[in-house]
Amino acid sequence: MKTRITELFGIEHPIIQGGMHYVGFAELAAAVSNAGGLGTITGLTQKSPADLANEIAKCNDLTDKPFAVNLTFLPTVNAPDYPGYVKAIIEGGVKVVETAGRNPVQVMPYLKDAGIKVIHKCTSVRHSLKAQEIGCDAVSVDGFECGGHPGEDDIPNMILLPRAADELEIPFVSSGGQADARSLVASLAMGADGMNMGTRFMATKEAPIHQNVKDAIVAASELDTRLIMRPLRNTERVLMNEAVARVLAVETEKGADIKFEDILEDVAGVYPKVMLDGEMDVGVWSCGMVAGLIDDIPTCKELIDRIMSEADAIVRSRLEGMLAGSVAAAA
Ligand SMILES: Cc1cc2nc3c(=O)[nH]c(=O)nc-3n(C[C@H](O)[C@H](O)[C@H](O)COP(=O)(O)O)c2cc1C
Repeated sequence: MKTRITELFGIEHPIIQGGMHYVGFAELAAAVSNAGGLGTITGLTQKSPADLANEIAKCNDLTDKPFAVNLTFLPTVNAPDYPGYVKAIIEGGVKVVETAGRNPVQVMPYLKDAGIKVIHKCTSVRHSLKAQEIGCDAVSVDGFECGGHPGEDDIPNMILLPRAADELEIPFVSSGGQADARSLVASLAMGADGMNMGTRFMATKEAPIHQNVKDAIVAASELDTRLIMRPLRNTERVLMNEAVARVLAVETEKGADIKFEDILEDVAGVYPKVMLDGEMDVGVWSCGMVAGLIDDIPTCKELIDRIMSEADAIVRSRLEGMLAGSVAAAA
C-alpha cells in the first residue's frame, strides 16, 4: 500500500509505533521497522544524550530500515538536555523524529537543517494546524481513546480525524484506539494516511517489557482504563490498578486543591518498576481503551502482515462487495 506517509518516511506499510516511555527501546523500534512499519525509540527513556546515542547505534545495528526517535517536551522545571538529545539524533543518522507534548518549534531549525522529517503528535485540530505552520512534515492526530495523554478536549477519533482532514494540508496518521485492519481502513476512510499505535505494540513478542504487562493488556477490556490527573490539566489514560485507585481517591478528597506532590509516589519514576520488573500495582501506567481489542501477543511482523492482508480483504471483498450489491457480515 502506498500513502503520503509511506512515501514521506520511505516505509512499506503506513503503520507507526509511537514513542512509549520504558517500552520504546531499540529492540521494539527495529522489529517494527524490519516488519515494514516505522519503529520509534523513546528519547527521554534514555537518561542522557550519550545513552540515546548508544540506543540509536544499537537500532542501526538491528535494522537498515528507517526508524524514528520520540522527543517529548514535558511541562517541567528541570528541562532535560534537549540540545544534547537533538545532537545525538542528528549524529546517529536518524531519519524521522516524533515530537510530542509542547510545540517543538525550538528544535525545528536543527532537525530541518539535518534533513530529518518531523511528525508531531497532538490531540487537537488547532495544535495540528500549529504544527503545520511551524514546518512539521506530518501530524499524528491522537484521539480521546489514546493511551497516555489525550489532552483536555475529549474529542474521539470519529470526529477528530475527519476534522483534521478538513483543515490540514500535510499528511497525518490516526493515533489512539488503533489496533487492527479495521482501524487502518477506517482511518484511511476518514482522511488519514496511516495509523500510529502504542498499546497494541506493547503486546508483541519483541516489546522489551515484562510479561506481566503484556498479560495485563490481553486480560483488560475496553472498560478498564481510567483518566487521572484531570484536575492538574495533565490528563493521562491509564490501566486501572491499585495505584490508580489511590490516585483517584486523593483526587476526590482534595478536589481543585490537589497538587502534583499529593500523588507523586504513584506517578513519578514508576515506569522501570512496572515495565521492566513487572510490578503491576506499584504505580500508574499509560494504556489505551484499545486494550479491549487486544487478545494475543504476536511478533511485530505477524501483527503488521495480518493488518495489511486483512485490510486488503476489507477493501476488496467487504466494501467492494457491498458496492456490488452483496450483503456481508463483519469479518
Ligand atoms: C505505556 C505508554 C507510554 C507512553 N509514553 C509516551 C511518551 O513517552 N511520549 C509520547 O509522546 N507518547 C507516549 N505514549 C503515547 C503513544 O505514543 C501513543 O500516542 C498512544 O499510545 C496511542 O494510543 P493507543 O495506546 O490507543 O494506541 C505512551 C503510551 C503508552 C501506552
